[in-house]
Amino acid sequence: MEYCIETYNLTKSYGDIVVTDALSLCIEKGTFHGFLGPNGAGKSTTIKMLTGIVAPTSGSARILGCDIKHTNASTKKRIGVVPEELCLFENLTGPEYLTFIGRMYSLPRKLARDRAHELLYWMDIHDTNGTLILEYSHGMRKKLALCAAIIHDPELLFLDEPFEGIDAVASRTIREVLEKLLARGATIFLTSHILEVVERLCSHVSIIDKGKLLWQGGLTEFAGGKRLDEAFLQVVSKTNESPRRLSWLSSKGSDCNMEQN
Ligand SMILES: Nc1ncnc2c1ncn2[C@@H]1O[C@H](COP(=O)(O)OP(=O)(O)OP(=O)(O)O)[C@@H](O)[C@H]1O
Ligand SMILES: [Mg+2]
Repeated sequence: MEYCIETYNLTKSYGDIVVTDALSLCIEKGTFHGFLGPNGAGKSTTIKMLTGIVAPTSGSARILGCDIKHTNASTKKRIGVVPEELCLFENLTGPEYLTFIGRMYSLPRKLARDRAHELLYWMDIHDTNGTLILEYSHGMRKKLALCAAIIHDPELLFLDEPFEGIDAVASRTIREVLEKLLARGATIFLTSHILEVVERLCSHVSIIDKGKLLWQGGLTEFAGGKRLDEAFLQVVSKTNESPRRLSWLSSKGSDCNMEQN
């Protein structure tokens, strides 16, 4: 079996806080993998380690067969990333930015320009009349970041919450293009809190909570006939059993009568 991502006891700590705790993951080539977990579980940190943004504290990982400690430009050219915090060049227009990114990935100038225009049309952000990225809406920025992540036809795509803030039409367009990339043999590693999208797209899932891997395998086996959100809640609620109650919303008459005070 060929793996695109392998992690062995991958651990990241900030001081005494262990953010990812000895994660061992294997992601098969050509699969659409949903990396799921509650807020603060360690998903973005894992993606940051795999893409070279932060260094692990201990453990190791390989992407596309290359140790992340030695990832060089030629490996980086084979991956695409939509990070959690977008880092765009705000003083460029959309076409300028995408053409620049295409050139950074060594696409010939004309190809970079042509793909940039196609992508902007495809994502419906072409009609911006020279608007600089700093004036883009949140959703427009997210769409542009996705275009930048795929302009070079990557073999491995990391997507950290790509559907957050995206409208329904664009969401469908994105799903279609991701399915096309998958059909071409790409591997996609996605984090998303929108479990309906995960259910529709992913063949495999892994669940992480408080930095620990709770489950990894096929989505169908994980869900076991239930809806994905039900299966997910069942797994993560086992590790979050603190009482959840707001006293002032629990009883009909409020404990504190505001008019009397
Ligand atoms: N630079 C940092 N310094 C200290 N703690 C950090 C740092 N980055 C992340 N953390 C902590 O690590 C934990 C995991 O953060 P991370 O961003 O990986 O979570 P996540 O699973 O992506 O959450 P979300 O679903 O909210 O995006 C959090 O408790 C966070 O506060
Ligand atoms: Mg995150």
